[in-house]
Amino acid sequence: MMSKRLLAAQTTRKLIRTSSTLHSKAAPAVMSQPQIEMPECEHRPAAYNGPSYEQILETRKNHLTPNLVAHFKKPLVIHAGHMQWLYDHEGRRYLDMFGGIVTVSVGHCHPKVNQALSEQISKLWHTTNIYMHPKIHEYAERLAAKFPGNLKAVCFVNSGSEANDLAMLMARLHTGNQDILTFRNAYHGMSPYTMGLTAHSTWRYPLPGVNNGILHVMNPDPYQGIWGGSACRDSPVQTTRSCSCAPDNCQAGTNYYNELEQTFKYSLPRGKVAAMFAESIQGVGGTVQFPKGYLKRAAALVRANGGLFVADEVQTGFGRTGDHFWGFEAHDYTPDIVTMAKGIGNGFPLAAVVTTPEIAASLGMALHFNTYGGNPMASAVGMAVLDVIEEEQLQLNSLEVGNYFLKCLEELQQRFELIGDVRGKGLMIGVELVNDRETRAPLAAPHVLDIWETCKDMGVLFGRGGLNGNVLRIKPPMCINRTDVRFAVDVLGRAIADTLAKQK
Ligand SMILES: Cc1ncc(COP(=O)(O)O)c(C=O)c1O
Repeated sequence: MMSKRLLAAQTTRKLIRTSSTLHSKAAPAVMSQPQIEMPECEHRPAAYNGPSYEQILETRKNHLTPNLVAHFKKPLVIHAGHMQWLYDHEGRRYLDMFGGIVTVSVGHCHPKVNQALSEQISKLWHTTNIYMHPKIHEYAERLAAKFPGNLKAVCFVNSGSEANDLAMLMARLHTGNQDILTFRNAYHGMSPYTMGLTAHSTWRYPLPGVNNGILHVMNPDPYQGIWGGSACRDSPVQTTRSCSCAPDNCQAGTNYYNELEQTFKYSLPRGKVAAMFAESIQGVGGTVQFPKGYLKRAAALVRANGGLFVADEVQTGFGRTGDHFWGFEAHDYTPDIVTMAKGIGNGFPLAAVVTTPEIAASLGMALHFNTYGGNPMASAVGMAVLDVIEEEQLQLNSLEVGNYFLKCLEELQQRFELIGDVRGKGLMIGVELVNDRETRAPLAAPHVLDIWETCKDMGVLFGRGGLNGNVLRIKPPMCINRTDVRFAVDVLGRAIADTLAKQK
């Protein structure tokens, strides 16, 4: 149940402009209020002519793995995409605020990426790296140029899990140590090796050996963690918790760091470690940001104890956080290994590990091979993605539109007590829904689902995350604009008001 206090604090306001159409086809009106006007889009996809909805459900039931996650009570059939828009089989248009889980970085079916891929497809698909092909060399050079220091050796793979698998292997071989640290609430993949790094009970199978040599340390989360205040985060929006720290002296960060030191003292053999992995902002965990300065100190501690620091940029890379191309740059340290996937290929299965030539050389102890990694198609796509980010200034767009988004959400938070926290930077944003602002207890799942589903009915697709699934994840293609943001925020406000009205 939603708390009485919270219900009493809410006001359902008339907020929205009137419009006759929401989607190309009319969507069901929510609580019979005037619809919120969806921004125009000139693109008209071809009509859907595939199997019927019922046939798709049947095939899914009979022939796909039964544990495939499907969003929404009536899962969507999406058959076309254009930039920030998706289209269902009935011709409805949706604003995609989740980008295929933070993957569609420059826009669905971006024409320049499409063109690069189709040109490559008509020349050469695949050889493996037993022969040299020009694209992987051009692309490796372009990608390496994006990194500071001696991070110049690129190993291409196909997924984020594979990238983190390889980073684990390199760290263990290079250091001769076995133990690896990650944060509780981290997500680094689902392969049997990386499942150990992932620290959400919901994403773990009870298999022997998964945790072999992996320790999960306290998450330095300034909102839900035991320490946190009003200036910890590198974000335009801070938590509602108070503190009296000076701007450059985050006590919460120091407390969490001291806690990390205890792991070295008590849990690691001779205090030695192979690596520590960190997302620059936790993604699946619900856009959790760490106190400023924490990762820099953690990296120094890991190195002082013989280990490597691995930045998992699978979600935060490629300009998404706005102020920097890589999330780690804002934490003011240079990692030893960087892993990346998702946005690197705009939806094409492409991922990479970037490290120093010395660390990469550790793989030379045995033969190492990857059939598809960096094949001509993947490299052509990866290079086009880099071009588009530069030409269309998408990092800057992430910064400007992201700041506007955060400001609008902060205003929404002032209207609705159930928005406990707004956080993030650039177009990597989280909105945590709570039952009570003081206890920060999560909003009950049925209410979260109601809000989320209503947004979908009004044409906006948000993601969800966090261990309790109560954080709305906002990580759209980086080409969205302020009009899209206004629409999404208005829709979210309406959805929350509707959910509250149903409770009265
Ligand atoms: C931060 C992070 N690392 C690694 C992965 C694993 O990537 P993949 O699903 O491509 O294996 C994910 C996936 O969501 C992720 O968010």
